Amino acid sequence: MSAAPDDPRATSPDGPRTPWGPDPGGSPWHERVPELTAADPRLLAHCVAVATTCASLARCCGLDDHEVAVAQLAGLLHDVGKAPSLRRDGELHHLTGARLLRDAGDERLARLVAHHSGGRFEAELAGQDLGAYEREQSLVADVLDLADLTTQPNGRPISIRGRYADIRERYGVRDGDAIALDLFVPDLTGVVARVTARIEGDTLRRRLSASWEPPAGRTRRAADGP
Ligand SMILES: [Fe+2]
Repeated sequence: MSAAPDDPRATSPDGPRTPWGPDPGGSPWHERVPELTAADPRLLAHCVAVATTCASLARCCGLDDHEVAVAQLAGLLHDVGKAPSLRRDGELHHLTGARLLRDAGDERLARLVAHHSGGRFEAELAGQDLGAYEREQSLVADVLDLADLTTQPNGRPISIRGRYADIRERYGVRDGDAIALDLFVPDLTGVVARVTARIEGDTLRRRLSASWEPPAGRTRRAADGP
């Protein structure tokens, strides 16, 4: 992506940068997040906090600068499909965001956004199809899930257990979001284990593993797949 001469990224002494860190050559959509979420300040606070957490978790896992930047951008953009001006009636926000990013040429970000936080379960329950987006299984994807599920809708931090309980309380246990989260529990347990195993730092590792304890009885049938 080339930068126009008056683009602030072109004048940075450290090379191209976004307001949130180095630009890995990704989508212009990240620059539009503040404008797109202007009508929903809570959404902006959530996206910025998830981006910040993604970057710090990715760094604590020892990922290189490029992977840290991808995690950060994925965090910033993961809910862009919820932006009031982009939202499409009835369409899952995962799909809205993924399509925008694919159209902008950001295939990797599109896949990460499509599948964040158990998106395939929400899609299945809503009768929508994420099949056009391959699910990336990587530490970056794990970090994105963890960052999203440790950040409240208003951007404040919360334990995974607290976020899980909050979603069930806010929407009701029969709501699609809560049911999808239940289906995601076995994967989430794996996500926490993989990130915890890579974290460099005893305190953060302990805090992370204490943040999640799978609720009893929330297991998926083997036939449901990974
Ligand atoms: Fe989110």
